Formats: sequence, structure tokens, C-alpha cells
Amino acid sequence: MSAHAQADVSRALAAGALQGGGAFTERCHAQLREAVPGSRPFLTTSCTDALEMATLIIGLNPGDEVVMPSWTFSSTANAVALRGAVPVFVDIREDTLNIDPVQAAAAVTPRTRALVCVHYAGVGCDMDTLVGLCRDRNITLIEDAAQAFGATWNGAPLGGFGDFGAFSFHASKNVSCGEGGALHVNRADLVQRADLVWHKGTDRSRFDRGEVQRYEWCALGSSFTPSEATAALLSAQLAEAAAINRARRCAWAYYAELLEGAGSTAHLRLPHIPVEAGHNGHIFAIRTLDQDACERTLEAFRSHGIDARTHYRPLHSSPAGRHYGRSRGRLPVTDAVTGTLIRLPLDAAITRTEQEYVVEILLGASRSADRRARASAQGSSRA
Ligand SMILES: Cc1ncc(COP(=O)(O)O)c(C=O)c1O
Repeated sequence: MSAHAQADVSRALAAGALQGGGAFTERCHAQLREAVPGSRPFLTTSCTDALEMATLIIGLNPGDEVVMPSWTFSSTANAVALRGAVPVFVDIREDTLNIDPVQAAAAVTPRTRALVCVHYAGVGCDMDTLVGLCRDRNITLIEDAAQAFGATWNGAPLGGFGDFGAFSFHASKNVSCGEGGALHVNRADLVQRADLVWHKGTDRSRFDRGEVQRYEWCALGSSFTPSEATAALLSAQLAEAAAINRARRCAWAYYAELLEGAGSTAHLRLPHIPVEAGHNGHIFAIRTLDQDACERTLEAFRSHGIDARTHYRPLHSSPAGRHYGRSRGRLPVTDAVTGTLIRLPLDAAITRTEQEYVVEILLGASRSADRRARASAQGSSRA
């Protein structure tokens, strides 16, 4: 924790009033408004909560459908299934691993109330197409921007395109307070309802402004507000967000530079960033030739003490995904990505020497995979 963050947390503790909604929460809200101009942020205890807030605000009902990628975290679908609605899983694009707008459009039915897009690895989905699709079909657009704080599409911040944008400030994210999140409400007509939901379904805000004598239960809501100690920590991190993202983007670019050319020679697929996307260096994910190469590469990393990991188990084939959701047809890209993706170690403090070592191990494992593939091809041509 930086000295600045420690001082702010100490100030919050010394003030004694640790419940949410105080000065540090307001400071976070001001910082988040600056990050996504024109939106109304609500600080939450997680992105999970932010997504659940969004589905409460739109009053999602049993039987409603929500289109989303299968390649995401359980929270994206939980927010829908908890309201009795049905997550409808669609495939992702081969290049960005973000929702495929063509598949998304084909999955819309008269029951569809919303579409959730996930900006995987902090790389923007095709927002031009998705915003147009949701407007034309009159459905709510929710951006699951858990990984995308500080990332842009055509220069505008992600989280500000949909009706809602949900961020995560979990320990694994670029900007973090341990556990935290925010829901950005981008439609003025939904802000008042969002405020009720955020205040556990009560008109507490009106009471605080002296507009009513008492506050009462007005709508379905829940407990979404983090404590002032958490808000103090987050506020200090938000102040450093630009520097953190700059350092991560720099490390990301160095991996790309080191691996340039390896994509064709070593059967490694490197990440693709569309020209419209300004990414935030959240994840550098490579793809291997097949699952066997992936497992052997992960083992090589493990044996050299390098913490590299694969990512999601897709939702459409998970036990809860099969129970609560349904897929639109087969999802071949999602299936192919599963078990062939590796996230290289990446944070704002990683050194170039550490990155060079990671790439050395990766290329060594990849060359072994090449040799095995050649040997097996020769074996089958002789047979
Ligand atoms: C796409 C996506 N959505 C939501 C979440 C949940 O975020 P949180 O841990 O802040 O609830 C995650 C977690 O990593 C995620 O990857």
C-alpha cells in the first residue's frame, strides 16, 4: 500500500464513522465521474454487486433473457439468474475473445431484455455495433467492464457506452482496494431508481437532503456500499490509476516486442488489439496450439517458479450454466479457447529482466511443442 493510501486509510479510521457514504465515498464518486464523464457512479463492494444492482434497477423478471458471452466470470450470469431470468450464452470473436456481435444479434428474441458485453483483458468490445444493436432492438446494454478501468473505445472511456458500466476494484485488477467495484449509470432517467436500489431500497437520499421526515422501503434493493476505510484505500488508488495503467501498458508492449515473430514460428498466438481500442494492459494472454501444449507450458512455468495461469471455465458448459442458462447453438471459439489460453505474469512493477525470463521459458516450451507436432506429423505420414 502506498504512503498516500496508508495516510488516507488512517484518516478514515481516525474519523470513526466507517459506514459507507461519507467523504471518501464522495471523493471516489468525483474521481469516477472524471474517469467516465457524463455518468453517475455508485461505489459498490464488488463488480458482482454492481452487476446485481443493474439487474435490480431494470427490474429483470423471471423468464426474461439476457444475452452474454460464455467466456466470462460467474458473476456476469449470477446477476441475471438471481432474478430468475435466463442467461443466453453466445460465442466470442476469435481475435479479441470479446462477444461476437453477429452471434449476439442472432440470439435476441422477443424475451430479450438486455445484453451484457465483457471487455475481456481490458480490450473494448465492438461498441459501435453493440450500441447500435441494443438501440435498434430496444434492449438494455450493460458493460461488464470488470477488467477495463481506464480503457477506451475510439478514445471514449469504456463503462460509459452502455446504459450501465460495471467496474471491479478486486485485488486482481489494475486499480484495487482488495474487494470493490462501481456501477456507472449512464442514463439520467435511471439515476433516481439506482439511488433507491443502492440505499437498500429506501429513499434515504431524500431523507439526507431533508426532503422527507423519515425514510422508508420503496423498492427492491440491497447492501452495496463499501465502508469508508475501503473507499479511502480506493480513492488513493484511483489517484494513481493513470500511472498504474501506463506502467502496465508498457510491460504489455514489451511482451509483444519480445514475442514478435514467435507467433508463426512457435505456434503461439499473440493478443489482438483493434485499432479503435485503447487497452489498459490488464492481461497479456497468449494462445497455444492445443491443450496439451498449454498444459506443458504451464508446467514449464510452474517448474521455474513463474505464476502464469489459464483463465475461465466457460459458463455454457459449467454445471450452473447448464442449469440456469442456455446456449445459442454451439460455441466453437469459446470451446477452442478453453484450455489453450495462458496469462503471462503482468503488473505495474514487473521488471524487463523478469519479462525476458518469462519469454525464454515460454519460447522453450513452445519449441518443444513444435518438435512434438512435427514428430507426430512425420509419424502419421509414415503410417
Ligand atoms: C468479467 C468479470 N465480471 C465480473 C467479475 C467479478 O468482479 P468482482 O470480483 O469485483 O466481483 C470478474 C472477476 O474477475 C470478471 O472477470
